[in-house]
Amino acid sequence: MKSFRLSILVAFTFLVACDDSTDPAELTTEQIIERGSEIAGKSQSALASTLVAQIEKSGFEGAVSFCHVNASPIVDSLEAAHDVKIRRTSFRHRNPNNEPDELDRDVLSIFEEKSESGEDLTPVVKTDSEAIRYYQPIMVMPLCTNCHGMPGESLTADLHALILDEYPDDEAVGYEVGDFRGAWVVEFATKQESK
Ligand code: HEC
Repeated sequence: MKSFRLSILVAFTFLVACDDSTDPAELTTEQIIERGSEIAGKSQSALASTLVAQIEKSGFEGAVSFCHVNASPIVDSLEAAHDVKIRRTSFRHRNPNNEPDELDRDVLSIFEEKSESGEDLTPVVKTDSEAIRYYQPIMVMPLCTNCHGMPGESLTADLHALILDEYPDDEAVGYEVGDFRGAWVVEFATKQESK
């Protein structure tokens, strides 16, 4: 009887651990990484497919508004389904809304140092009073340099001018393939305060 009860308890604990309604504060770092990487991975693919579809349809000029986390409704539905906030941040950002806060800066510095010394970048989890944050590094791929590369080279002067019209303080240029670009941030709100 005892072992039966125990197995029910184990099964129940397992179910709860896999359920999205668990207070993220009760999850282990490994579980946050698992959940965060699934959410960031899906966001990244959704964004990439929207971006590529727009480039095919109307060229890089026409696709400028589609490298945005909310350009894909999938990202919005992931936020609602998992009760998380999904965003991107970078030291050299194009949109000032993506400016890193203090915690973001700490993590971006870790990623940047590792990238400079040629180490592999792996996800980082940080906690503050309001949320548990999952950070996933973003690297520059060939497609990206069309809009984030060296002006006058991989980023044409015309496209650069168009980008500057919309983003006069753009800092997100001059990147090369393989550079560290920034991070996906998935914020899991903790329910501790309401307890
Ligand atoms: C068609 C042009 C275009 C392409 C291609 C493109 N981006 Fe962007 N990217 C932009 C624009 C415009 C923004 C500003 C979006 C906003 O308003 O939030 C941006 C923003 C970003 C940001 C958010 C931080 C910031 O700078 O504000 C990251 C990270 C980023 N891009 C990475 C990439 C990566 C990685 C790729 C390749 C997979 C890529 N981009 C391809 C135009 C592009």
